[in-house]
Amino acid sequence: MTELLEVQDLRVRFRTAGLVQGLLKGLDDPFIDAVMKVSFSLAAGETFGLVGESGSGKTTLGRAIIGLVQAQEGNIRFEGKELVGLKDSEYRDIRRNIAMMFQDPIASLSPRKKVRSQIAEPFKIHNIKDKDPDKEARRLLKLVGLHEGFLEAYPHQLSGGQARRVGVARALSLDPKVIIADEPTAGLDVSVQGEILNLMNRLQRELGLSYLIITHNLPVVRHVSDRLAIMYLGRFVEQGTTTEIFEKPAHPYTLGLLAAVPEPDPDKRRDKLELEGEIPSLMNRPKGCEFHTRCPFAQEKCLNEAPQYKEVAPGHFASCHFPFPDPADAKAVGRHAMPETGNVAADHVSGRISRAGETPNING
Ligand SMILES: Nc1ncnc2c1ncn2[C@@H]1O[C@H](COP(=O)(O)OP(=O)(O)O)[C@@H](O)[C@H]1O
Ligand code: SF4
Ligand SMILES: [Mg+2]
Repeated sequence: MTELLEVQDLRVRFRTAGLVQGLLKGLDDPFIDAVMKVSFSLAAGETFGLVGESGSGKTTLGRAIIGLVQAQEGNIRFEGKELVGLKDSEYRDIRRNIAMMFQDPIASLSPRKKVRSQIAEPFKIHNIKDKDPDKEARRLLKLVGLHEGFLEAYPHQLSGGQARRVGVARALSLDPKVIIADEPTAGLDVSVQGEILNLMNRLQRELGLSYLIITHNLPVVRHVSDRLAIMYLGRFVEQGTTTEIFEKPAHPYTLGLLAAVPEPDPDKRRDKLELEGEIPSLMNRPKGCEFHTRCPFAQEKCLNEAPQYKEVAPGHFASCHFPFPDPADAKAVGRHAMPETGNVAADHVSGRISRAGETPNING
């Protein structure tokens, strides 16, 4: 597959306080890194899932790609063209090719505009004269499975699923190559979630689209993503094919997210690793491994030394000093009880778990 979009060591910083306010609060560094040097690529026709809890930087990464927030370091290349540093006016053409479906479908539509003008709006913004907006709005509604009677509806008259379909139609209006879908299934009933994902799958097949799907819910991307990245405090902590991540998770955080995945086959069922403890503040990143405050496997080394993000299997990357080397280890989680004492994170987790054959003990 040819790479359509390439993101390399991307860093997005936000100022959290003004100069004076920062001095008054005694802040050494009044910035937070919402996205911390992440790299990935998206090929034509591919779906890449971006997964992490709230505040991990997923939306910021999506917004940086379409130029709604400025990246301070790194590169974003679309069809080989560098996007970092482009002026807003220079982004116009890019936004025809990369469309974003924003989180919260109803709130992202203008409350006082009918569906007809919401879908046709991109033609106005991009000054497209060679297409009949009305005809296009009808075509796009049909494409997303909505009756043309919805053209006259206002957003508050739509269900969550219908609003999401309108959002998809709007994103498709300028024939983009890439769609960034921010939490496309959030707030929807499970059956409607399935309908939206099926719709996105069908459109991908028919139109050859590439997707970047952003979600806090790992199961959502299982059947739609080719590859995945797991984000924590703005960093990628694991990245690989969807099969590899679900079958051979290497990072304890991924294992925690996977605990939410219903597994009908009891042989494959993992014991629960509940993600407990507060997500640390971006203003005060933990030293060493930034996940150590919540990691049931943390050892002495984890407190002092940041793990490198490295390849644990071909195309599979993780940043953990003690990644799960093979699936048997991940499956064995729970079979070996963690000792009552000696683990730094024991207070943070309810499930006492350990890797097969290992005794996590920070005291050596
Ligand atoms: N415009 C902004 N100014 C300052 N901080 C921001 C801004 N946008 C996002 N953030 C912060 O960046 C972090 C990542 O946010 P976000 O990308 O929305 O995460 P996610 O989509 O994973 O929930 C959060 O701590 C959030 O408060
Ligand atoms: S480096 Fe240590 S604390 Fe970090 S995820 Fe791995 S085992 Fe847990
Ligand atoms: Mg978000």
